[in-house]
Amino acid sequence: MSTHRVLVTGASGFIGRHVAHGLAGRGQEVIASGRDAARLDANRDSARRIQCADLAADPLEPMLDGCDTVVHCAALSAPWGSRVEFERANVLATRRLLDAACRSGVRRFIHLGSPSIYFRFRDQYDVGEAFVPPRRWITEYARSKWASEDCVREASDGPLQTLILRPRAVFGEGDRAILPRLLAVAERGWFPLVDGGEALIDVTRVDNLSGLIVDCVERGWSGSGQAYNVTNGEPLRVRDLLSALFSRMGRRVRWVSVPRGPALAAAWLAEQVALRRPGQPEPKLTRYGLGVVGYAQTLDIRRAREELGYRPTPGIAAGLEAFANAWSDHDRA
Ligand SMILES: NC(=O)c1ccc[n+]([C@@H]2O[C@H](COP(=O)([O-])OP(=O)(O)OC[C@H]3O[C@@H](n4cnc5c(N)ncnc54)[C@H](OP(=O)(O)O)[C@@H]3O)[C@@H](O)[C@H]2O)c1
Repeated sequence: MSTHRVLVTGASGFIGRHVAHGLAGRGQEVIASGRDAARLDANRDSARRIQCADLAADPLEPMLDGCDTVVHCAALSAPWGSRVEFERANVLATRRLLDAACRSGVRRFIHLGSPSIYFRFRDQYDVGEAFVPPRRWITEYARSKWASEDCVREASDGPLQTLILRPRAVFGEGDRAILPRLLAVAERGWFPLVDGGEALIDVTRVDNLSGLIVDCVERGWSGSGQAYNVTNGEPLRVRDLLSALFSRMGRRVRWVSVPRGPALAAAWLAEQVALRRPGQPEPKLTRYGLGVVGYAQTLDIRRAREELGYRPTPGIAAGLEAFANAWSDHDRA
């Protein structure tokens, strides 16, 4: 199998670091990029080169030198934030990276999209990849992730081969987005379970996602700008996921079942208070955050199975175990 030189953006973050390590572990030459030099350092032993750069501002050609593939994991990934911040980190950065990749002769580009675009305040089962954007977006994050996909599709007219992965609720060692937020809510000793936590959701072990990306880099793919849902393929009830998490973390948490309507109203109130505070800090409860665990959402992953040969390893226990082992105070979101 031939060796690839791969630029991994967001290698200082959760998914990017797993991807960079996975590729390096298979003998690929990794250029690990991010902004936070200390966190990027986790790639020092495995990457061929470490490159600190702000994708929205710095010249990008130098780090693409000799690369045939880009795996674009960098993004502002959060349920809260202003349109300006999301546009810069997710849309401008993606567009600049694609332009630089085309100019540098990169052949393949894997983009991390997000199923947050599908979210509606209703239960959704077996959601497929076909998507029509709504007139009003529920979060600026989702709006910017869809716009970043548009950039990828536009760049797919030329010789650049592109692929968009939409992994749902990725968790595992080093997660900074999902499990830390759930633990923060549980810090008071109780957890608000929307409608008893019966909603069925899909999650994705980070090793399944990074394994798929490594396979795609090594095997290549045909098609441009095609999007693929990615999950573990084993939907579970929110309550079962939380029970497993808190029990593995040694947390005794009292469940408080709350009806969906009042819970969303309380989250709306928390958002309004946050919007009026200096710096508009993220509230512990947002309507989106609550909705993600308060409504069912499962994704159809047949396309990834059939066209990319995706074969996820089942079981959430291993992912929770890896997260818990790595968890320490400085990891808190
Ligand atoms: N986690 C999930 O459950 C999930 C689910 C679906 C999709 N995704 C997508 O997967 C990707 C990775 O998510 P993640 O969870 O790994 O996020 P993460 O841990 O927050 O990492 C994001 C990375 O993006 C980098 N970054 C942000 N803005 C940048 C900029 N302007 N220039 C250069 N680097 C920049 C950050 O760099 P520094 O930290 O060095 O500043 C960080 O390394 C994102 O596209 C996200 O939307 C994630």
